Amino acid sequence: MQQIEEINILDFCCGTGGEIVGMIIGLQFLLPNLKRINVDAVDANPDAIRVLYHLGEDLKGVDDIKIEFHIHPMCLFIETGQDFEDFIQMLNREYHYILSFKALNEFVQNRSFSVGNIYSDVVDYLLPLLLPDGALILSDVTTKLDDVYLFYPELMNKGINEALRRNRSYKSIIPHSCYYMEDKCEGCYMQDIFTVTHSRKQMDRTKVAYRIICHADFANTIMDGIRSNNCRAVNRLADKFEPYR
Ligand SMILES: C[S@@+](CC[C@H](N)C(=O)[O-])C[C@H]1O[C@@H](n2cnc3c(N)ncnc32)[C@H](O)[C@@H]1O
Repeated sequence: MQQIEEINILDFCCGTGGEIVGMIIGLQFLLPNLKRINVDAVDANPDAIRVLYHLGEDLKGVDDIKIEFHIHPMCLFIETGQDFEDFIQMLNREYHYILSFKALNEFVQNRSFSVGNIYSDVVDYLLPLLLPDGALILSDVTTKLDDVYLFYPELMNKGINEALRRNRSYKSIIPHSCYYMEDKCEGCYMQDIFTVTHSRKQMDRTKVAYRIICHADFANTIMDGIRSNNCRAVNRLADKFEPYR
């Protein structure tokens, strides 16, 4: 990976693209040979897509960003399986990173894809787009709907584990415990708290749950020698409010 010169990213439900800017800056810092980043970004909100387009243009003049990048924003409302299949058909590359941050809870709220588990469906659709050394990063908020029994992290873990049990070609790497437990785990609650200082607020706290999934061979290489007991399935005293790596 250190030698890589070009990276492809897909951001599903990108909003105004804060995570894209973060990824560009982070990857430029971590990968010294990187020359170009290609980003396909989709969202239903035309205003967000417009902001992202202008953000991309503005970033081209920023001194701190030395590498070439191309952001391809797409405005699509994805409500059904057919919409998702049409969207996948539009993409003509595979990705090193596929992101979906804090968005799938909105599908639950809007009852999109009304049958089944949205996290499971999205993982099924997106994993085939992943390059052999790529990573799918899913994060979401940690609350719940009043009329739904499960919290979003529980729905997310349940859905992802179901998808990974259906398709053994992929495995989780983060949280580390999921690599070991995803075969039997029915979906636990998890939460990590990050503190970020930005233009509107000092030390703003954000609470998220997240999973990172890779091709199984790649995951096995990464996880060689890594153990974790910070998982409530194996350690009932594990604190669900602690970072769960
Ligand atoms: C809370 S925002 C998160 C945006 C960005 N990922 C972030 O973390 O800042 C959720 C985004 O999901 C998008 N979204 C929700 N349902 C969608 C759907 N059915 N199809 C496409 N985009 C959708 C919304 O338009 C919104 O921009």
